[in-house]
Amino acid sequence: MPLPTNEDAPKRNWTVLPLLEWTERYLQERSFEESRLNAELLLARALRLPRLGLYLQFDRPLAAGELAVFRALLLRRMTHEPVQYILGETEFMGLPFEVTPAVLIPRPETEELVEEAIRWLKSSGSAEGSILEIGTGSGNIAVALGKFLPGARITSLEKSGDALEVARRNCARHGLGNVELLQGDVFTAGFDGQVFDAVVSNPPYVPEAEFNRLQPEVRDFEPRLATTDGADGFRFIRRIADLACGLLRPGGGMFLEIGYGQADAAGRIARESGLTGVGVQKDFAGIDRILRGFAPGGIPSP
Ligand SMILES: C[S@@+](CC[C@H](N)C(=O)[O-])C[C@H]1O[C@@H](n2cnc3c(N)ncnc32)[C@H](O)[C@@H]1O
Repeated sequence: MPLPTNEDAPKRNWTVLPLLEWTERYLQERSFEESRLNAELLLARALRLPRLGLYLQFDRPLAAGELAVFRALLLRRMTHEPVQYILGETEFMGLPFEVTPAVLIPRPETEELVEEAIRWLKSSGSAEGSILEIGTGSGNIAVALGKFLPGARITSLEKSGDALEVARRNCARHGLGNVELLQGDVFTAGFDGQVFDAVVSNPPYVPEAEFNRLQPEVRDFEPRLATTDGADGFRFIRRIADLACGLLRPGGGMFLEIGYGQADAAGRIARESGLTGVGVQKDFAGIDRILRGFAPGGIPSP
């Protein structure tokens, strides 16, 4: 793979704007998405500035040391390492989160899952209820629920100890006392007769057969445990729908993120598990993304 060399980036006195423009073009020519944003994030990190601070310093000359740091960051990106792992940080629902290669990078469509769960919890009078979240990862869903529903109690389950460490640091960073993080396997975990108002999850749902077709950023860098279920893509959906039916109070809600093309089968699974009011909501890209279903016996709520 061609890497930035002095020939590509002739030795000269670089200032911020020309270096941004050069990097944007360099990434674009090599088919990297969001090339300008990537260039800005990496340069801002090299210069220890907030991203928008670059716009106030377009004529700032780079010291040799700063240029060397920037080159090293860009070389990492050229291997397809996601920019969020390079920076060690990302945003989810306007909140900052530490991310490491032990955790999935939170996605914008998952924000819609959380917003939908919050909307329903509030409208059904359960804003101070108990929520089970499955597959903690960085803790993005658990932290966002804990932050935006300060009266709720969130129990969050994760199999990977390394991911749970990251989630612990993110909970501490946001000063949350209403989130309990548990290490465990959703296929064997027992919940001691606990009853929840909602079950929320963004489970691994990429079918094993599709794993090798994922973008290199995902396939080669994000945890395999977080992306594929090692089966047909529905292993977790089946398990969580069954669990939800047993753990939810009457009328309690299950909210699951699902993958492209999974809506019909996932809806069938939820109904066969005994959930009622099953439906699927589209994400901002128009893709069926959020599966919801309700434990029988409650008063229907919007
Ligand atoms: C798709 S990621 C979601 C991470 C995060 N909640 C998010 O939305 O970005 C799924 C998570 O489930 C975890 N996981 C995988 N298998 C599991 C299992 N059997 N039991 C519990 N968690 C599991 C993975 O380690 C990963 O953190």
